[in-house]
Amino acid sequence: MEQMTKKETIALRDKHIGKSCQLFFRQDPLKIMRAKAQYMYDEKGDAYLDCINNVAHVGHCHPAVVEAGCRQMSILNTNNRFLHDNIVLCAQRIINTMPDKLSVCYFVNSGSEANDLALRLAQIHTGNRQVITLEHAYHGHLTSLIDISHYKFNLPGGPPQKDYVHVASCPDTYRGKYRDSDYAKEELSKLYSDEILTICQNVSSEKGEKICAFIAESLLSCGGQIIPPDNYMKNVYDHVRQNGGVCIADEVQVGFGRLGKHWWGFQMHDVIPDIVTMGKPMGNGHPIAAVVTTEEIAESFRRTGVEYFNTYGGNPVSCAIANAVFDTIEKENLREHALVVGEYLFDSCQILAKKHACIGDVRGVGLFLGIEMVKDRDLRTPDKATASYVLKRMREEHILVSADGPECNVIKIKPPMVFTKENVDEVVSTLDRVLKELRDSQQKSSNVKSTEVPSKEPRTRKSLKEDRIKSI
Ligand SMILES: Cc1ncc(COP(=O)(O)O)c(C=O)c1O
Repeated sequence: MEQMTKKETIALRDKHIGKSCQLFFRQDPLKIMRAKAQYMYDEKGDAYLDCINNVAHVGHCHPAVVEAGCRQMSILNTNNRFLHDNIVLCAQRIINTMPDKLSVCYFVNSGSEANDLALRLAQIHTGNRQVITLEHAYHGHLTSLIDISHYKFNLPGGPPQKDYVHVASCPDTYRGKYRDSDYAKEELSKLYSDEILTICQNVSSEKGEKICAFIAESLLSCGGQIIPPDNYMKNVYDHVRQNGGVCIADEVQVGFGRLGKHWWGFQMHDVIPDIVTMGKPMGNGHPIAAVVTTEEIAESFRRTGVEYFNTYGGNPVSCAIANAVFDTIEKENLREHALVVGEYLFDSCQILAKKHACIGDVRGVGLFLGIEMVKDRDLRTPDKATASYVLKRMREEHILVSADGPECNVIKIKPPMVFTKENVDEVVSTLDRVLKELRDSQQKSSNVKSTEVPSKEPRTRKSLKEDRIKSI
Protein backbone atom coordinates (compact mmCIF):
# COMPACT_ATOMS: atom_id res chain seq x y z
CA MET A 1 0.00 0.00 0.00
CA GLU A 2 1.35 3.39 -0.97
CA GLN A 3 1.99 5.67 1.96
CA MET A 4 -0.34 8.65 2.31
CA THR A 5 1.05 12.14 2.80
CA LYS A 6 0.39 13.70 6.19
CA LYS A 7 -2.07 16.08 4.54
CA GLU A 8 -4.00 13.15 3.04
CA THR A 9 -4.10 11.36 6.39
CA ILE A 10 -5.49 14.46 8.08
CA ALA A 11 -8.12 14.90 5.36
CA LEU A 12 -9.28 11.27 5.60
CA ARG A 13 -9.30 11.44 9.39
CA ASP A 14 -11.38 14.62 9.31
CA LYS A 15 -13.83 12.86 7.02
CA HIS A 16 -14.28 9.55 8.80
CA ILE A 17 -13.06 9.68 12.39
CA GLY A 18 -15.40 11.15 15.00
CA LYS A 19 -14.46 14.72 15.84
CA SER A 20 -14.55 13.94 19.57
CA CYS A 21 -11.40 11.84 19.07
CA GLN A 22 -8.80 14.52 19.63
CA LEU A 23 -5.18 14.50 18.62
CA PHE A 24 -2.10 15.56 20.53
CA PHE A 25 -0.76 18.88 19.17
CA ARG A 26 -3.97 19.67 17.30
CA GLN A 27 -2.51 22.64 15.38
CA ASP A 28 0.12 20.43 13.80
CA PRO A 29 -0.47 16.79 14.74
CA LEU A 30 2.32 14.27 14.62
CA LYS A 31 2.20 11.37 12.20
CA ILE A 32 4.17 8.65 13.92
CA MET A 33 5.35 5.83 11.67
CA ARG A 34 7.40 3.66 14.00
CA ALA A 35 8.83 3.60 17.48
CA LYS A 36 11.61 1.93 19.40
CA ALA A 37 12.28 1.96 23.15
CA GLN A 38 11.72 5.59 24.30
CA TYR A 39 11.74 7.12 20.81
CA MET A 40 9.02 7.70 18.23
CA TYR A 41 9.71 8.51 14.57
CA ASP A 42 7.57 10.63 12.27
CA GLU A 43 6.98 10.26 8.52
CA LYS A 44 10.25 12.08 7.79
CA GLY A 45 12.19 9.74 10.06
CA ASP A 46 12.69 12.44 12.72
CA ALA A 47 13.01 11.07 16.25
CA TYR A 48 11.01 12.30 19.24
CA LEU A 49 11.87 11.50 22.83
CA ASP A 50 8.68 10.07 24.30
CA CYS A 51 7.84 11.31 27.80
CA ILE A 52 4.11 10.70 27.33
CA ASN A 53 3.64 6.99 26.74
CA ASN A 54 3.36 5.08 29.96
CA VAL A 55 1.56 2.44 27.89
CA ALA A 56 4.73 1.43 26.02
CA HIS A 57 5.94 0.43 29.45
CA VAL A 58 9.03 -1.66 28.71
CA GLY A 59 9.80 0.42 25.63
CA HIS A 60 8.06 0.71 22.27
CA CYS A 61 8.17 -2.50 20.22
CA HIS A 62 10.28 -4.34 22.76
CA PRO A 63 11.64 -7.37 20.82
CA ALA A 64 10.71 -9.89 23.55
CA VAL A 65 7.12 -8.63 23.64
CA VAL A 66 6.80 -8.50 19.86
CA GLU A 67 8.25 -11.98 19.55
CA ALA A 68 5.92 -13.43 22.21
CA GLY A 69 2.87 -11.94 20.48
CA CYS A 70 3.91 -13.03 16.97
CA ARG A 71 4.77 -16.55 18.09
CA GLN A 72 1.48 -17.08 19.90
CA MET A 73 -0.51 -15.52 17.06
CA SER A 74 1.02 -18.01 14.64
CA ILE A 75 0.00 -20.95 16.87
CA LEU A 76 -3.42 -20.18 18.37
CA ASN A 77 -5.72 -17.42 19.42
CA THR A 78 -9.10 -18.21 20.88
CA ASN A 79 -11.34 -17.39 23.82
CA ASN A 80 -10.73 -18.44 27.38
CA ARG A 81 -13.44 -21.12 27.46
CA PHE A 82 -10.69 -23.48 26.33
CA LEU A 83 -7.96 -24.37 28.76
CA HIS A 84 -4.71 -22.58 28.03
CA ASP A 85 -1.49 -22.14 30.01
CA ASN A 86 -0.95 -18.48 29.11
CA ILE A 87 -3.98 -17.18 30.99
CA VAL A 88 -3.35 -19.16 34.18
CA LEU A 89 0.35 -18.30 34.16
CA CYS A 90 -0.47 -14.65 33.64
CA ALA A 91 -2.96 -14.73 36.53
CA GLN A 92 -0.35 -16.39 38.71
CA ARG A 93 2.22 -13.74 37.87
CA ILE A 94 -0.16 -10.93 38.73
CA ILE A 95 -1.20 -12.60 41.98
CA ASN A 96 2.45 -13.12 42.96
CA THR A 97 2.87 -9.34 43.04
CA MET A 98 -0.22 -8.80 45.23
CA PRO A 99 -0.97 -9.15 48.95
CA ASP A 100 -2.21 -12.67 49.79
CA LYS A 101 -5.91 -11.90 50.01
CA LEU A 102 -6.04 -10.65 46.41
CA SER A 103 -6.00 -13.99 44.66
CA VAL A 104 -8.62 -14.06 41.89
CA CYS A 105 -8.26 -12.54 38.39
CA TYR A 106 -10.64 -11.63 35.60
CA PHE A 107 -9.21 -10.66 32.23
CA VAL A 108 -10.63 -7.87 30.08
CA ASN A 109 -9.44 -5.69 27.20
CA SER A 110 -9.09 -2.17 28.54
CA GLY A 111 -8.86 -0.13 31.70
CA SER A 112 -12.46 0.96 31.18
CA GLU A 113 -13.70 -2.61 31.02
CA ALA A 114 -11.70 -3.41 34.14
CA ASN A 115 -13.26 -0.55 36.11
CA ASP A 116 -16.75 -1.39 34.84
CA LEU A 117 -16.35 -4.96 36.04
CA ALA A 118 -14.91 -3.72 39.35
CA LEU A 119 -18.05 -1.64 39.92
CA ARG A 120 -20.23 -4.60 39.06
CA LEU A 121 -18.35 -6.82 41.52
CA ALA A 122 -18.66 -4.16 44.21
CA GLN A 123 -22.41 -3.76 43.65
CA ILE A 124 -23.03 -7.49 43.71
CA HIS A 125 -20.86 -8.12 46.76
CA THR A 126 -22.14 -5.26 48.92
CA GLY A 127 -25.70 -5.09 47.63
CA ASN A 128 -25.23 -1.31 47.72
CA ARG A 129 -25.25 1.34 45.02
CA GLN A 130 -23.61 4.49 46.38
CA VAL A 131 -20.18 5.21 44.91
CA ILE A 132 -17.58 7.64 46.21
CA THR A 133 -15.15 9.03 43.69
CA LEU A 134 -12.61 11.85 43.73
CA GLU A 135 -12.72 15.29 42.19
CA HIS A 136 -10.90 15.38 38.81
CA ALA A 137 -10.72 11.59 38.65
CA TYR A 138 -10.90 9.70 35.36
CA HIS A 139 -11.75 6.00 35.33
CA GLY A 140 -12.70 5.25 31.73
CA HIS A 141 -14.94 5.96 28.78
CA LEU A 142 -17.86 3.54 29.34
CA THR A 143 -21.14 5.13 30.40
CA SER A 144 -20.83 3.59 33.87
CA LEU A 145 -17.41 5.22 34.23
CA ILE A 146 -18.16 8.62 32.76
CA ASP A 147 -20.78 8.72 35.52
CA ILE A 148 -18.08 8.31 38.19
CA SER A 149 -15.37 10.35 36.40
CA HIS A 150 -15.64 13.89 37.68
CA TYR A 151 -12.99 14.85 35.08
CA LYS A 152 -15.62 14.12 32.40
CA PHE A 153 -19.11 14.55 33.85
CA ASN A 154 -18.12 17.88 35.33
CA LEU A 155 -17.39 19.36 31.89
CA PRO A 156 -19.94 21.89 30.57
CA GLY A 157 -21.28 19.32 28.08
CA GLY A 158 -20.98 16.34 30.41
CA PRO A 159 -23.95 14.32 31.71
CA PRO A 160 -25.51 15.49 35.00
CA GLN A 161 -24.07 14.00 38.17
CA LYS A 162 -25.95 10.84 39.11
CA ASP A 163 -27.68 10.64 42.48
CA TYR A 164 -25.64 7.60 43.56
CA VAL A 165 -22.30 9.31 42.82
CA HIS A 166 -20.54 11.31 45.54
CA VAL A 167 -17.46 13.39 44.84
CA ALA A 168 -14.85 14.02 47.54
CA SER A 169 -12.14 16.66 47.21
CA CYS A 170 -8.98 15.65 45.42
CA PRO A 171 -6.34 15.17 48.14
CA ASP A 172 -4.08 17.72 46.47
CA THR A 173 -1.99 19.34 49.18
CA TYR A 174 -0.56 21.92 46.78
CA ARG A 175 -3.63 23.58 45.28
CA GLY A 176 -6.55 21.58 46.66
CA LYS A 177 -9.12 22.61 49.25
CA TYR A 178 -6.63 22.04 52.10
CA ARG A 179 -3.06 23.08 51.41
CA ASP A 180 0.30 22.41 52.98
CA SER A 181 0.74 26.18 53.22
CA ASP A 182 -2.16 26.31 55.70
CA TYR A 183 -2.10 23.00 57.53
CA ALA A 184 0.44 20.66 59.08
CA LYS A 185 1.21 17.45 57.22
CA GLU A 186 -0.66 15.24 59.71
CA GLU A 187 -3.78 17.42 59.54
CA LEU A 188 -4.07 17.21 55.77
CA SER A 189 -4.82 13.51 55.54
CA LYS A 190 -7.45 13.84 58.26
CA LEU A 191 -9.11 16.86 56.68
CA TYR A 192 -9.33 15.18 53.28
CA SER A 193 -10.34 11.76 54.57
CA ASP A 194 -12.96 13.27 56.91
CA GLU A 195 -14.81 14.34 53.78
CA ILE A 196 -15.27 10.70 52.91
CA LEU A 197 -16.60 10.01 56.40
CA THR A 198 -19.07 12.88 56.01
CA ILE A 199 -20.25 11.47 52.67
CA CYS A 200 -20.78 8.05 54.29
CA GLN A 201 -22.76 9.64 57.14
CA ASN A 202 -24.87 11.72 54.76
CA VAL A 203 -25.63 8.72 52.58
CA SER A 204 -26.83 6.91 55.67
CA SER A 205 -28.86 9.78 57.16
CA GLU A 206 -30.30 11.19 53.93
CA LYS A 207 -30.79 8.08 51.82
CA GLY A 208 -30.82 5.37 54.45
CA GLU A 209 -28.25 3.50 52.35
CA LYS A 210 -24.76 2.15 52.77
CA ILE A 211 -21.73 2.61 50.57
CA CYS A 212 -21.02 0.36 47.61
CA ALA A 213 -17.49 1.43 46.72
CA PHE A 214 -14.77 4.00 46.96
CA ILE A 215 -12.74 4.15 43.76
CA ALA A 216 -9.49 6.06 43.33
CA GLU A 217 -6.17 5.95 41.58
CA SER A 218 -3.37 5.39 44.06
CA LEU A 219 -1.72 8.51 42.61
CA LEU A 220 -4.05 10.72 40.62
CA SER A 221 -2.92 11.27 37.06
CA CYS A 222 -5.69 13.32 35.40
CA GLY A 223 -5.99 15.26 38.65
CA GLY A 224 -2.48 16.59 37.94
CA GLN A 225 0.00 13.94 39.13
CA ILE A 226 -1.26 14.14 42.71
CA ILE A 227 0.32 12.18 45.54
CA PRO A 228 -2.23 11.83 48.37
CA PRO A 229 -0.84 12.68 51.82
CA ASP A 230 0.40 9.95 54.17
CA ASN A 231 -2.39 8.01 55.88
CA TYR A 232 -5.09 9.45 53.62
CA MET A 233 -5.87 6.12 51.95
CA LYS A 234 -5.68 4.25 55.26
CA ASN A 235 -8.27 6.57 56.84
CA VAL A 236 -10.48 6.48 53.76
CA TYR A 237 -10.40 2.70 53.49
CA ASP A 238 -11.41 2.46 57.18
CA HIS A 239 -14.34 4.86 56.75
CA VAL A 240 -15.58 3.16 53.58
CA ARG A 241 -15.37 -0.34 55.04
CA GLN A 242 -17.07 0.69 58.25
CA ASN A 243 -19.93 1.98 56.13
CA GLY A 244 -20.44 -1.17 54.11
CA GLY A 245 -18.31 -0.39 51.06
CA VAL A 246 -15.36 -1.94 49.29
CA CYS A 247 -12.24 -0.12 48.11
CA ILE A 248 -11.18 -0.18 44.47
CA ALA A 249 -7.63 0.83 43.52
CA ASP A 250 -7.38 1.94 39.90
CA GLU A 251 -3.82 1.08 38.89
CA VAL A 252 -4.38 1.56 35.17
CA GLN A 253 -1.84 4.39 34.97
CA VAL A 254 0.57 3.86 37.83
CA GLY A 255 0.76 0.07 38.16
CA PHE A 256 3.33 -2.43 36.91
CA GLY A 257 6.30 -0.98 38.77
CA ARG A 258 6.28 2.57 37.41
CA LEU A 259 6.74 3.88 40.94
CA GLY A 260 9.91 1.84 41.34
CA LYS A 261 9.79 0.62 44.90
CA HIS A 262 6.41 -1.09 44.50
CA TRP A 263 4.60 -3.03 41.84
CA TRP A 264 1.39 -1.17 42.64
CA GLY A 265 0.61 2.33 43.82
CA PHE A 266 -1.63 1.19 46.70
CA GLN A 267 1.43 -0.43 48.31
CA MET A 268 2.85 3.05 48.75
CA HIS A 269 -0.07 3.86 51.04
CA ASP A 270 0.23 0.62 52.98
CA VAL A 271 -3.37 -0.40 52.26
CA ILE A 272 -4.88 -3.52 50.74
CA PRO A 273 -7.75 -2.82 48.34
CA ASP A 274 -10.66 -5.21 47.87
CA ILE A 275 -10.46 -4.83 44.10
CA VAL A 276 -7.54 -3.74 41.91
CA THR A 277 -7.84 -2.77 38.26
CA MET A 278 -4.95 -2.61 35.79
CA GLY A 279 -4.47 -2.04 32.08
CA LYS A 280 -2.37 0.25 29.91
CA PRO A 281 1.22 -0.98 30.61
CA MET A 282 0.07 -4.58 30.95
CA GLY A 283 0.26 -5.25 27.20
CA ASN A 284 2.89 -2.64 26.31
CA GLY A 285 0.40 -1.23 23.79
CA HIS A 286 -1.59 -4.39 23.13
CA PRO A 287 -5.13 -4.25 24.60
CA ILE A 288 -5.20 -6.36 27.74
CA ALA A 289 -6.36 -5.44 31.21
CA ALA A 290 -7.42 -7.22 34.39
CA VAL A 291 -9.35 -7.07 37.63
CA VAL A 292 -7.98 -8.71 40.75
CA THR A 293 -10.08 -9.35 43.81
CA THR A 294 -10.62 -11.49 46.87
CA GLU A 295 -12.12 -14.98 46.97
CA GLU A 296 -15.10 -13.62 48.91
CA ILE A 297 -15.99 -11.05 46.27
CA ALA A 298 -15.44 -13.56 43.47
CA GLU A 299 -17.70 -15.98 45.31
CA SER A 300 -20.50 -13.37 45.56
CA PHE A 301 -20.19 -12.90 41.80
CA ARG A 302 -20.30 -16.66 41.16
CA ARG A 303 -23.37 -17.07 43.36
CA THR A 304 -25.41 -14.82 41.06
CA GLY A 305 -25.33 -17.71 38.62
CA VAL A 306 -24.68 -15.29 35.76
CA GLU A 307 -21.74 -16.50 33.70
CA TYR A 308 -18.98 -13.99 33.04
CA PHE A 309 -17.77 -14.29 29.46
CA ASN A 310 -15.50 -11.92 27.59
CA THR A 311 -14.68 -12.90 23.99
CA TYR A 312 -11.19 -11.44 23.93
CA GLY A 313 -10.34 -11.05 27.60
CA GLY A 314 -7.44 -13.32 28.52
CA ASN A 315 -6.91 -14.76 25.04
CA PRO A 316 -3.63 -16.67 24.53
CA VAL A 317 -2.00 -13.90 22.45
CA SER A 318 -2.80 -11.11 24.91
CA CYS A 319 -1.62 -13.22 27.83
CA ALA A 320 1.60 -14.22 26.02
CA ILE A 321 2.26 -10.52 25.60
CA ALA A 322 1.48 -9.66 29.23
CA ASN A 323 3.73 -12.51 30.38
CA ALA A 324 6.53 -11.12 28.20
CA VAL A 325 5.99 -7.69 29.79
CA PHE A 326 6.40 -9.25 33.24
CA ASP A 327 9.53 -11.13 32.06
CA THR A 328 11.03 -7.95 30.68
CA ILE A 329 10.35 -5.87 33.81
CA GLU A 330 12.12 -8.55 35.83
CA LYS A 331 14.98 -9.38 33.44
CA GLU A 332 15.83 -5.73 32.85
CA ASN A 333 15.33 -4.67 36.48
CA LEU A 334 13.00 -1.95 35.29
CA ARG A 335 11.51 -1.23 38.69
CA GLU A 336 14.93 -0.54 40.15
CA HIS A 337 15.75 1.48 37.04
CA ALA A 338 12.54 3.54 37.49
CA LEU A 339 13.55 4.24 41.08
CA VAL A 340 17.06 5.43 40.20
CA VAL A 341 16.17 7.39 37.06
CA GLY A 342 12.98 8.72 38.69
CA GLU A 343 14.93 10.10 41.62
CA TYR A 344 17.42 11.71 39.24
CA LEU A 345 14.53 13.23 37.28
CA PHE A 346 12.87 14.51 40.45
CA ASP A 347 16.08 16.08 41.76
CA SER A 348 16.87 17.63 38.38
CA CYS A 349 13.41 19.19 38.15
CA GLN A 350 13.67 20.54 41.67
CA ILE A 351 16.96 22.18 40.75
CA LEU A 352 15.25 23.67 37.73
CA ALA A 353 12.50 25.01 40.00
CA LYS A 354 15.14 26.94 41.91
CA LYS A 355 15.97 28.78 38.69
CA HIS A 356 12.49 29.42 37.34
CA ALA A 357 9.80 31.19 39.33
CA CYS A 358 7.10 29.75 37.06
CA ILE A 359 7.67 26.29 38.58
CA GLY A 360 5.60 26.18 41.74
CA ASP A 361 5.90 22.52 42.58
CA VAL A 362 7.65 19.37 41.48
CA ARG A 363 6.18 16.10 42.67
CA GLY A 364 6.67 12.53 41.69
CA VAL A 365 7.46 8.95 42.51
CA GLY A 366 9.54 6.76 40.20
CA LEU A 367 8.85 7.61 36.59
CA PHE A 368 5.63 9.47 37.35
CA LEU A 369 6.28 13.17 37.73
CA GLY A 370 4.37 16.45 37.63
CA ILE A 371 5.66 20.00 37.30
CA GLU A 372 3.17 22.74 38.31
CA MET A 373 3.44 25.91 36.27
CA VAL A 374 2.30 28.97 38.24
CA LYS A 375 2.05 32.71 37.73
CA ASP A 376 2.75 33.43 41.37
CA ARG A 377 4.39 31.11 43.84
CA ASP A 378 2.71 32.60 46.90
CA LEU A 379 -0.77 32.47 45.44
CA ARG A 380 -0.05 29.31 43.46
CA THR A 381 -2.01 30.78 40.55
CA PRO A 382 -2.12 28.15 37.80
CA ASP A 383 -0.38 29.12 34.56
CA LYS A 384 -1.95 27.20 31.71
CA ALA A 385 -0.44 29.49 29.08
CA THR A 386 3.12 28.69 30.16
CA ALA A 387 2.32 24.98 30.29
CA SER A 388 0.92 25.14 26.71
CA TYR A 389 3.96 27.10 25.56
CA VAL A 390 6.27 24.48 27.09
CA LEU A 391 4.42 21.63 25.35
CA LYS A 392 4.65 23.36 21.99
CA ARG A 393 8.32 24.36 22.32
CA MET A 394 9.41 20.97 23.68
CA ARG A 395 7.74 19.32 20.72
CA GLU A 396 9.69 21.64 18.39
CA GLU A 397 12.78 20.40 20.25
CA HIS A 398 11.57 16.84 19.56
CA ILE A 399 10.58 16.04 23.13
CA LEU A 400 6.99 14.96 23.76
CA VAL A 401 5.41 15.96 27.07
CA SER A 402 1.77 16.54 28.00
CA ALA A 403 -0.17 18.65 30.51
CA ASP A 404 -3.05 17.79 32.82
CA GLY A 405 -4.79 18.76 36.03
CA PRO A 406 -8.04 20.72 36.36
CA GLU A 407 -6.26 23.87 35.20
CA CYS A 408 -4.16 22.08 32.57
CA ASN A 409 -1.03 23.60 34.07
CA VAL A 410 0.77 20.47 35.25
CA ILE A 411 3.45 19.15 32.91
CA LYS A 412 3.30 15.36 33.09
CA ILE A 413 6.30 13.14 32.58
CA LYS A 414 5.58 9.41 32.48
CA PRO A 415 7.89 7.90 29.88
CA PRO A 416 8.53 4.27 28.94
CA MET A 417 10.45 2.67 31.81
CA VAL A 418 13.64 2.38 29.73
CA PHE A 419 14.10 6.16 30.02
CA THR A 420 17.71 6.94 30.95
CA LYS A 421 19.56 9.57 32.97
CA GLU A 422 20.83 10.97 29.65
CA ASN A 423 17.19 11.38 28.60
CA VAL A 424 16.53 13.21 31.86
CA ASP A 425 19.44 15.57 31.16
CA GLU A 426 18.09 16.24 27.69
CA VAL A 427 14.56 16.96 28.95
CA VAL A 428 15.67 19.14 31.84
CA SER A 429 18.26 21.18 29.92
CA THR A 430 15.77 21.76 27.10
CA LEU A 431 13.06 22.77 29.56
CA ASP A 432 15.56 25.11 31.22
CA ARG A 433 16.30 26.75 27.85
CA VAL A 434 12.63 26.99 26.89
CA LEU A 435 11.66 28.61 30.20
CA LYS A 436 14.58 31.05 30.03
CA GLU A 437 13.63 32.04 26.50
CA LEU A 438 10.02 32.61 27.64
CA ARG A 439 11.14 34.68 30.61
CA ASP A 440 13.45 36.76 28.43
CA SER A 441 10.72 37.45 25.92
CA GLN A 442 8.23 38.37 28.68
CA GLN A 443 10.80 40.69 30.26
CA LYS A 444 11.60 42.29 26.93
CA SER A 445 7.96 43.09 26.30
CA SER A 446 7.42 44.43 29.85
CA ASN A 447 10.86 46.10 30.04
CA VAL A 448 11.63 44.53 33.42
CA LYS A 449 15.26 43.75 34.22
CA SER A 450 16.07 40.04 34.14
CA THR A 451 16.63 38.27 37.46
CA GLU A 452 18.09 34.83 36.97
CA VAL A 453 17.08 33.41 40.36
CA PRO A 454 13.49 33.77 41.61
CA SER A 455 13.15 35.37 45.03
CA LYS A 456 10.63 32.90 46.49
CA GLU A 457 11.33 29.22 47.01
CA PRO A 458 9.28 26.57 45.19
CA ARG A 459 7.67 23.90 47.35
CA THR A 460 10.36 21.31 47.95
CA ARG A 461 9.97 17.84 49.33
CA LYS A 462 13.49 16.85 50.24
CA SER A 463 16.93 18.38 50.32
CA LEU A 464 18.89 18.35 47.11
CA LYS A 465 22.33 16.94 46.78
CA GLU A 466 24.79 19.81 46.30
CA ASP A 467 26.74 18.14 43.48
CA ARG A 468 23.53 17.81 41.48
CA ILE A 469 22.74 21.52 41.96
CA LYS A 470 26.02 22.44 40.30
CA SER A 471 25.41 20.14 37.37
CA ILE A 472 22.46 22.06 35.89
C1 LIG B 1 -6.76 6.00 35.69
C2 LIG B 1 -7.41 5.44 34.48
N1 LIG B 1 -8.32 4.47 34.61
C3 LIG B 1 -8.94 3.93 33.56
C4 LIG B 1 -8.66 4.37 32.27
C5 LIG B 1 -9.37 3.77 31.10
O1 LIG B 1 -8.52 2.93 30.41
P1 LIG B 1 -8.76 2.60 28.86
O2 LIG B 1 -8.51 3.86 28.10
O3 LIG B 1 -7.77 1.50 28.60
O4 LIG B 1 -10.15 2.13 28.73
C6 LIG B 1 -7.71 5.36 32.08
C7 LIG B 1 -7.38 5.85 30.73
O5 LIG B 1 -6.74 6.82 30.50
C8 LIG B 1 -7.08 5.93 33.21
O6 LIG B 1 -6.17 6.89 33.09
